[in-house]
Amino acid sequence: MRTQHYLSLLSFIISTTSMLFSAYCQQDSETQILLQIKSEWGNPPALDSWNLSSGNHCSWLGLNCTGGVVTSVRLSNQNLTQPIPDSMCLLKNLSYLDLANNELPGSFPKFLYNCSSLQHLNIAQNLFVGTLPTDIDKLPSSLTYLDVSGNNFTEEIPVSIGRLANLKELHLDGNLFNGTYPVEIANLVNLEYFSLAWNPFLKPARIPDEFGNLTKLKSLWLTQTNTIGEIPFALSKLTELEHLDLGWNQINGTLPSWIWSLEKLNILYLFSNDLTGEIITGTIRCINLFEIDVSLNKLTGSIPESFSNLKHLSVLFLYYNLFTGEIPASLGLLPNLTDIRLFNNNLIGQLPETLGNFSKLWNLEVNDNRLSGQLPAHLCSGNNLVSIVVFNNNFAGEIPPSLANCNTLNDIQLYNNRFYGEFPSSIWSITNLNTIMIHDNEFTGMLPKRLPWNLTRLEIHNNHFTGEIPTFSERLQVFKGSNNNFYGELPENFIGFRVLQELSLGSNKIIGSISQSIQVLKSLTTLNLSSNKLTGSIPDSIGLLPVLTTLDLSNNELSGSIPQDLSNLKPNFLNLSANNLSGVIPQSFKNQAYNQSFLSNPDLCTDSNSNTILNLPVCNPTLSSSNKLSRELIAIFSTLGFVILIGIGIVGFLLIRAQIKGKTASYDHETSWKLTSFHKFDFTEYQIIEGLKEENVIGSGGTGKVYKISLNNDEDQIVAVKRIFVGHKMDSNLEKNFNAEVNILGQIRHANIVKLLCCISSMDSKLLVYEFMENSSLDRWLYGKERMHGSC
Ligand SMILES: *[C@@H]1O[C@H](CO)[C@@H](O)[C@H](O)[C@H]1NC(C)=O
Ligand SMILES: *[C@@H]1O[C@H](CO)[C@@H](O)[C@H](O)[C@H]1NC(C)=O
Ligand SMILES: *[C@@H]1O[C@H](CO)[C@@H](O)[C@H](O)[C@H]1NC(C)=O
Ligand SMILES: *[C@@H]1O[C@H](CO)[C@@H](O)[C@H](O)[C@H]1NC(C)=O
Ligand SMILES: *[C@@H]1O[C@H](CO)[C@@H](O)[C@H](O)[C@H]1NC(C)=O
Ligand SMILES: *[C@@H]1O[C@H](CO)[C@@H](O)[C@H](O)[C@H]1NC(C)=O
Ligand SMILES: *[C@@H]1O[C@H](CO)[C@@H](O)[C@H](O)[C@H]1NC(C)=O
Ligand SMILES: *[C@@H]1O[C@H](CO)[C@@H](O)[C@H](O)[C@H]1NC(C)=O
Ligand SMILES: *[C@@H]1O[C@H](CO)[C@@H](O)[C@H](O)[C@H]1NC(C)=O
Ligand SMILES: *[C@@H]1O[C@H](CO)[C@@H](O)[C@H](O)[C@H]1NC(C)=O
Ligand SMILES: *[C@@H]1O[C@H](CO)[C@@H](O)[C@H](O)[C@H]1NC(C)=O
Ligand SMILES: *[C@@H]1O[C@H](CO)[C@@H](O)[C@H](O)[C@H]1NC(C)=O
Repeated sequence: MRTQHYLSLLSFIISTTSMLFSAYCQQDSETQILLQIKSEWGNPPALDSWNLSSGNHCSWLGLNCTGGVVTSVRLSNQNLTQPIPDSMCLLKNLSYLDLANNELPGSFPKFLYNCSSLQHLNIAQNLFVGTLPTDIDKLPSSLTYLDVSGNNFTEEIPVSIGRLANLKELHLDGNLFNGTYPVEIANLVNLEYFSLAWNPFLKPARIPDEFGNLTKLKSLWLTQTNTIGEIPFALSKLTELEHLDLGWNQINGTLPSWIWSLEKLNILYLFSNDLTGEIITGTIRCINLFEIDVSLNKLTGSIPESFSNLKHLSVLFLYYNLFTGEIPASLGLLPNLTDIRLFNNNLIGQLPETLGNFSKLWNLEVNDNRLSGQLPAHLCSGNNLVSIVVFNNNFAGEIPPSLANCNTLNDIQLYNNRFYGEFPSSIWSITNLNTIMIHDNEFTGMLPKRLPWNLTRLEIHNNHFTGEIPTFSERLQVFKGSNNNFYGELPENFIGFRVLQELSLGSNKIIGSISQSIQVLKSLTTLNLSSNKLTGSIPDSIGLLPVLTTLDLSNNELSGSIPQDLSNLKPNFLNLSANNLSGVIPQSFKNQAYNQSFLSNPDLCTDSNSNTILNLPVCNPTLSSSNKLSRELIAIFSTLGFVILIGIGIVGFLLIRAQIKGKTASYDHETSWKLTSFHKFDFTEYQIIEGLKEENVIGSGGTGKVYKISLNNDEDQIVAVKRIFVGHKMDSNLEKNFNAEVNILGQIRHANIVKLLCCISSMDSKLLVYEFMENSSLDRWLYGKERMHGSC
């Protein structure tokens, strides 16, 4: 008994020791392998901890061991810039390799075929180029996860990929695949996650029926893959689907009703396709639906009442369709609905009365419909509402009190409705407030003494506001307040308002004069103070505003002469009519373009060469000097010089005509820039235009160049600007399309789409300003053959 016991103990000790010993040896050699890998990788700073004095190698950064041997290497986001070392596969038990988000160069790392235990391979978001190898099926058959997204892999996706039979996840999105993808992918019957999105496949293709065989699929992501045709009925077999994303394609036909029977569906994105018909014809079984985005299609009919069964629904995007009818009142009962975008449809009736009562509503965009009635009383009950965008409808009534005290609000766009009553003064103390666009209503009320700190855009023209002009906020970019009843004087001091681009306060009752300090408004492009009661002279410093292109001071009581410095401006629009200005018109305005600019100023005059052009009287020759000439001299001059004068006159006429022609032409060419913004930002078009230098070019394509511009020398404030030259004669249809599409893009805030901050346009080019994202699908946006989505 005892002996047996000792023997077994002894054998246990021996076997354990030998196991430990062999493990020790293995560890020792693995340590050597790791140091070799480190050195082949160029000793990157991220691998500093890979050294002999920092303990067991299993504790080194990014490593994980099983039974003392390395089984996983996780080095994503480590600034690795050298190729993956060949010796990686000397780690015999390596099963998990994650090197995503580095700058790994070169072609697909075929030597990984030798990592015989590999199950998980992630090389997403690197700098890989070239094709995927046609023998990619030589990757170990143990592979269950393959992610090569966000690289520059190109051409065909190899047929052999369909032989990696154990794959559960295959991510191919965000590359430069421009060939085709093989139907053999449908052989990967274990596949749960499959993405092909954001690839520039050249040949339009239908979704293969065979994909219906991928019955374990939970996620199918085919955004922007040049997919056409109808959604195949075969996909109705994908009953495990949780996430179906087919956006930015040309999928047509009706929206199949079986989609609403996929019981596990969480997310349905079908935006930007050519789907027609009603959104739902059958019943809804996918009661877990969390996000619906079917925007930018041609869907008709009304918004189904049955959406009120979707208790988890958080995001409902139906914008840019042909929906008619009323918004079901029951949507106001959904407990989780936070983001509603129904804009640009034909909806009528009221908003659900209880909207905001039962969910923490965050964003409401229903602009461009035919909605009427009052705003729901409790939109902000969840204390979460950030934007309310309801412009271009027939809404009426007063602002509900709950909205007036909604401290989360950022963006208020109520314009072109029939709202009336006092614009609540409490709104002005909302600290996050960024945009207020409430023009063309019947609001009364006064502005606060000082505009809210964060306010960048205030558009309240065509209302009945009264009181004095407030002190601006430092971030204010646009203040349009024309056609109200403002009185009092303009701010005495403009210092501190560097980013102001437009100041329009025409048709009010403003008195006093314009301060010389206006010259600090270096971003000002539009100044409209027409039809007020301004007195004093035009400050010559206005001529120092570098980007001013629209100046309207007409219909005031301004006096004095027109400052010579004003000639520095090359305004597209200049109106100084109906004042008491006097003296001579500066030389550069003697030109057809300004023939309506100086009318009804009895004391303004010009020389005889331009008086008919400008509709102004000829200035009296100053007699004091001519007095000194004797009448005889004059007589001699007039007789002797008569012929010469006629000669000079003809030449002069020709010259001036040429000059006027030249001027007008150069005036046409003068680039005046118009900015359309879609998001809040901290820069001006001037800063962008300044950055359009050759040294900032990061790429160029058929239609124009792409610039990377860092604003304010701030590395965190970088934008990508695509400049599209449209030439002199942009076809008006093309222009219309471009504008419509840029508008759409600007309004979309989709996770997968790079944010278009603004569009700046001039006569001969368009600038699309995007958020700059390194290694993102932005590349494709910027360089791709545009299917331009988005408006200017
Ligand atoms: C070795 O690794 C340790 C722990 O990470 C680190 O503190 C030390 O600086 C490293 N030594 C060398 C020589 O890199
Ligand atoms: C290491 O592996 C263990 C067991 O497989 C796992 O629980 C742990 O999360 C892993 N740690 C890291 C950092 O990968
Ligand atoms: C490492 O892999 C080999 C076969 O490749 C296997 O025999 C061994 O048990 C594995 N070691 C561990 C600790 O998993
Ligand atoms: C990578 O580089 C960036 C920028 O140089 C730096 O901020 C970051 O800390 C680095 N990350 C690592 C893991 O070294
Ligand atoms: C795999 O390893 C073998 C032997 O070490 C080597 O001959 C072969 O070239 C490697 N294969 C690849 C694809 O690197
Ligand atoms: C990837 O492609 C983009 C655009 O096609 C290009 O700008 C970039 O330089 C490429 N990157 C590499 C590493 O080739
Ligand atoms: C696909 O793109 C590559 C470069 O990324 C290019 O060389 C090739 O010609 C393209 N193929 C086609 C069919 O246009
Ligand atoms: C795959 O799907 C196609 C078309 O839907 C079908 O004809 C074929 O039999 C399926 N193959 C398998 C192996 O199920
Ligand atoms: C859908 O598109 C395909 C391919 O472009 C076309 O052949 C078909 O006629 C279209 N169907 C409908 C209903 O428009
Ligand atoms: C409600 O939405 C939030 C995110 O907006 C989500 O995390 C949560 O799970 C949802 N709750 C329900 C019951 O669906
Ligand atoms: C909506 O909420 C407000 C308070 O937030 C409450 O007074 C009102 O009764 C609620 N309405 C309904 C229908 O629940
Ligand atoms: C401006 O807005 C930001 C968030 O958008 C907020 O954190 C900040 O407090 C606001 N500033 C002021 C002075 O209210």
